[in-house]
Amino acid sequence: MSVDANLDHEPTAAIPDPALVILVGASGSGKSTWAAQHYLPREIVSSDQLRAVVGSGEHDLDASDDAFSLLDQIVAARTGRRLTTVVDTLGLSASRRLGYLALARRARIPAVAVLFHTDPAVCRQRNRSRQRSVPAAVLDEQLHRVQEAADQLASEGWDAVVRAAAGQALEPAHSPGSRSAALLQRDRPTGLGFVLQVSRFGWGEDPAAWLKSIALAATQAGFTGIALMDHLIQIPQVGRAWEPIPEPWVTLGLLAGLDTNLRLGTLVSPVTFRAPGVLAKTAATLDALSGGRAFCGLGAGWWDREHAAFGLPFPPPAKRLRLLEIEIEMLRALWHTGTRPYRSDRVSLPETTCYPRPAGQLPVIVGGSGDRTLDVAARLADGCNLPSDLETFDARLAVLRGHCARAGRDPAEVAVTVLDVPVIGRDREHTATLVESMRGRISAAAFARRHHAGVAADHVGRYRLLAERGVSTVFVSLPDLAEPDDLARLTPIVSSFAA
Ligand code: UTP
Ligand code: MG
Repeated sequence: MSVDANLDHEPTAAIPDPALVILVGASGSGKSTWAAQHYLPREIVSSDQLRAVVGSGEHDLDASDDAFSLLDQIVAARTGRRLTTVVDTLGLSASRRLGYLALARRARIPAVAVLFHTDPAVCRQRNRSRQRSVPAAVLDEQLHRVQEAADQLASEGWDAVVRAAAGQALEPAHSPGSRSAALLQRDRPTGLGFVLQVSRFGWGEDPAAWLKSIALAATQAGFTGIALMDHLIQIPQVGRAWEPIPEPWVTLGLLAGLDTNLRLGTLVSPVTFRAPGVLAKTAATLDALSGGRAFCGLGAGWWDREHAAFGLPFPPPAKRLRLLEIEIEMLRALWHTGTRPYRSDRVSLPETTCYPRPAGQLPVIVGGSGDRTLDVAARLADGCNLPSDLETFDARLAVLRGHCARAGRDPAEVAVTVLDVPVIGRDREHTATLVESMRGRISAAAFARRHHAGVAADHVGRYRLLAERGVSTVFVSLPDLAEPDDLARLTPIVSSFAA
């Protein structure tokens, strides 16, 4: 899969996707041809085709009323589900257009008008060469009304009015600006680190062999590290409770023995699972064994069920956040050189004798997005992991920066990372197929948005936008990771940031 293949066009006026797209143009102006080049057949609702469904053929004008009432019903149903819908009619009735616009507003999806300003002479020529042509006077009238419509569209309230062009770019509505960002990344690349987060373990009969093959494939795809989830039962967001979810630090020990340079850590270990001193020992050992490649993700924990099932206390949030502070402080105290006693408001240790020491600086990354978690991250962590959704990200980053300012901490000392769980398709159709196969009971539109469903170029653009906001590392978790070959889909994306 080549990223560039998705970028053969100029970055101007990308059409958001999903959207309600209304075509406006005279007969023979190329509407149906353009629609077929850019959208899937099921996304296009054509009055001609529906005339053929309820009448004797595409030109059965007596069937127009029935065709249009069906058309309206289909458009309303699809738009209500936030599915991309292209209305392939002449588009010359202002009242019909405004009706469609109202549907899109109600469903809160973008409404786009695509104007076909094809040379009248070309329309007439195409009309003449058609088997069943429109009477010349009718076509003249249409051409006149297209001019009128062009003027009206500007004030009707469309999110975008686009002149039809071949190779028109579609852009995921969840990531405005991603198309031009992808082009910028192609022309003036910026660097960004990618760490594979593994959260599902479809390892069959040989867990160790599967893990090794995933790690080697991750290296080949350009990842700089592997992060493992830390849960006692597989979480419902990822899989079923009886699917394997290995103890991460043991598993990272196995990965540390492979001949790779991958960085290794958790994303994230809940403070409630292990006594802080024991985690200090575990992570320091991994760092020593791996030659300084360990990192330690920490969080306050959130899933009561796994605590109950494993006989672990699950204190209220305020207590867990305090545990988070204590844990970070204790890790640092025990990882520090020497064996001196350590005392602070929160932590009191009679000695700090912890050998082996970590081989290098062992980064602590706090994951979570609650205000108080971000406060802990701002004061104490080396990195903070935020959600990758751009809107949420911007809001959370502002909170993190605010906490840094209040704590007098240089924000540059807190690396910003994101966890991203992308659906990556070969093309629009494949992307839609993947969404449909994975969405479970969530609507396709909501699932696509949650997983930023798109082709490689869409993800490149999105990651570029995150890099521009100061993100240094993207933790990528593939929602459909089954075998090592699946990681090849990420190669063109990751290599775009190898600068
Ligand atoms: P379309 O059938 O796409 O036009 O093209 P339209 O706007 O949808 O027309 P109506 O409203 O349904 O009648 C008309 C003819 O022009 C050719 C197509 O192959 C078709 O025969 N065409 C279209 C081109 O040759 N080049 C183009 O860029 C577009
Ligand atoms: Mg047509």
